[in-house]
Amino acid sequence: MVKTKKFILAKHFVDEPKESDLQLVEDDLPALKDREILCEAVWLSVDPYMRPYSNRFPTGVTMIGTQVAKVVESRHPDYEVGIHVVGHFGWQTKTVVNADNPGTWLWLKKPYIIPDFSGLSLSLALGVLGMPGNTAYFGFLEICDPKPGEVVVVSGAAGAVGSHVGQIARIKGCKVIGFTGSDEKVKWLLNELKFDAAFNYKAIDIVKAIQQAAPDGVDCYFDNVGGALSSAVISQMKNRGRISVCGSISAYNADINKLPSAPTVLPLLLRKELKMEGFMVSRWHNRWDEGVEQNLQWIKEGKLVHRETVTEGFENTAKAFIGMLRGENVGKAVVKV
Ligand SMILES: NC(=O)c1ccc[n+]([C@@H]2O[C@H](COP(=O)([O-])OP(=O)(O)OC[C@H]3O[C@@H](n4cnc5c(N)ncnc54)[C@H](OP(=O)(O)O)[C@@H]3O)[C@@H](O)[C@H]2O)c1
Repeated sequence: MVKTKKFILAKHFVDEPKESDLQLVEDDLPALKDREILCEAVWLSVDPYMRPYSNRFPTGVTMIGTQVAKVVESRHPDYEVGIHVVGHFGWQTKTVVNADNPGTWLWLKKPYIIPDFSGLSLSLALGVLGMPGNTAYFGFLEICDPKPGEVVVVSGAAGAVGSHVGQIARIKGCKVIGFTGSDEKVKWLLNELKFDAAFNYKAIDIVKAIQQAAPDGVDCYFDNVGGALSSAVISQMKNRGRISVCGSISAYNADINKLPSAPTVLPLLLRKELKMEGFMVSRWHNRWDEGVEQNLQWIKEGKLVHRETVTEGFENTAKAFIGMLRGENVGKAVVKV
């Protein structure tokens, strides 16, 4: 009998998630049936969406999440033993899954066979060459439609998606301004990612910072965080500016009934004729490989820098998740199982 370790959602999160909301247990896995594969986790992803999404599931479920896993046993002709896949298997070390119909609730309907990354770490399939990378690629280019010379503001700028968006903006010849949560992250954005300007949003006046860095205003805003930071950025948009609403992490731990309501930005949208569009990266699932290939190409050309914050050990996944929500990560937060 094969054993797996997994984290169970013991309590729904209230405010900031606590380690005690998740319970580490051991379970037995069944023998493989036809079309099933046994996968062993190598890398786990911890992502912001897990905070709001997990509360849609009953307590007692395996904590949701994506992982890079090695196929160690297979009764499916498309999945050879030894290959690596990305699967929505949740926070568990081993998984038996029907590869034709894993019963997943996200866009990846089947375990995704990781293509050749030219020797780069397979963990990148959870970051710059995976979901966050495609979020940056499609969510920025398709919605903001940036033009050379335009001013782009990115919030959550030192995270997985934000750091990537800022670099695509530079590749496209834009001027890039990033907002992030520490002076150390600001230095990374300026010195290594070559942002034109970067600010610690916890320590400055956001409106003044934009007025200094971009006196004529902002053409495109890629919004990872929402809240007061975003209201301030939107107040500095040029007429007919474009806003891509990717995430609202500033609100993920909040009681939604206590948040300020939309009218804080609606008069600005009207007066400046702004376009504001939310998206889910799954919209582009039919073009998935295009995003991965382009991002890989930019890495090979030295145009796209990627960074990971790696937590060692499956047992530390809850810590890594809570740390990521607190801003302890630079680049993509992953767990090495
Ligand atoms: N629409 C989609 O399909 C899609 C797909 C992927 C991700 N997303 C969204 O994109 C955003 C970024 O995701 P990611 O995976 O790249 O995560 P990430 O940026 O790597 O990690 C989360 C970061 O959020 C920042 N943060 C935490 N609380 C904050 C607050 N109150 N105000 C401002 N920033 C805060 C922290 O950085 P600081 O130190 O800078 O505060 C933290 O490092 C999230 O909102 C996520 O939900 C959306």
